[in-house]
Amino acid sequence: MPENRFTNRVVFVTGGTSGLGADTCELFIAEGAKVFVTDLLERDILQRLGHENAHFQQCDISSVSQCENAIKACIERFGRLDVLFHNGARLADLATVVDHDVETFDSVVKTNLYGLFYLARAAIPQMQKQGKGAIVTTASTAGLFGDYGLASYSAAKAGTVNLTRTMALDHAREGIRINCVCPGYMVTPMTDGFRAEQHVHEALLESIPMNRGADPKEIGRAVLFLASDDASFITGQALVIDGGWTAASGCPNFPKLFGKAKL
Ligand SMILES: NC(=O)c1ccc[n+]([C@@H]2O[C@H](COP(=O)([O-])OP(=O)(O)OC[C@H]3O[C@@H](n4cnc5c(N)ncnc54)[C@H](O)[C@@H]3O)[C@@H](O)[C@H]2O)c1
Repeated sequence: MPENRFTNRVVFVTGGTSGLGADTCELFIAEGAKVFVTDLLERDILQRLGHENAHFQQCDISSVSQCENAIKACIERFGRLDVLFHNGARLADLATVVDHDVETFDSVVKTNLYGLFYLARAAIPQMQKQGKGAIVTTASTAGLFGDYGLASYSAAKAGTVNLTRTMALDHAREGIRINCVCPGYMVTPMTDGFRAEQHVHEALLESIPMNRGADPKEIGRAVLFLASDDASFITGQALVIDGGWTAASGCPNFPKLFGKAKL
């Protein structure tokens, strides 16, 4: 039985028509929210969510004017803004810094980091007027540790974690809580490439203590928790949800290598 933690609340979502974003929109609607869904593409999201409690607007989060217009449109349409779930992001092809072209680096950082700055800047004044609000951002374990070949993505996600913390400090006294989730490996279109080659996927699963990727709803439920009053004393936190991935130091699984354990 879903709870109704978001009745009469308005949630603005970026990257909301695929993967984690779309699944989390469903969870918010199931708990009574009105959801203003944004993304680059519509992808039939309103067929999935229904027209009654959801509205779609195209928004490129690397554009300051599109971010500002979308927040304005959300407030005009639904009369308020309670939750910003900033989730849209892109990956670049795996490359070292030397091989990473400058335009791609710029684009990834603009999309994955600047978008948060643009949207928070536009959304927080409305939350200040309402005397309350919650922002949840999607960072990544890649924002907490280095990952091979992911220079622009990791840099932007690390920026997301620390921008989240800093904004949380700045607005804590106004009743606005700001947190991020840091997923490990999730099974979404973004990671199709890792499943396309069997040896890559096997190595990926082997590195995760729970030996599987997350269903996006497993992350979405944490997003709802952080956005809800259940998390009323939690702000400035980066919640890692990774099946145990980052509990390891990176050293090999010696018991397994020595044949001493079924790990
Ligand atoms: N899949 C994983 O393993 C994983 C792990 C850690 C973090 N994440 C993060 O989770 C979030 C959701 O990703 P996902 O895995 O659901 O992948 P996804 O590709 O299904 O979703 C990403 C969404 O972001 C949108 N997007 C990309 N560029 C945009 C732009 N310029 N403007 C607006 N929207 C844009 C895409 O259209 C897409 O809908 C992302 O922030 C991603 O970095 C994913």
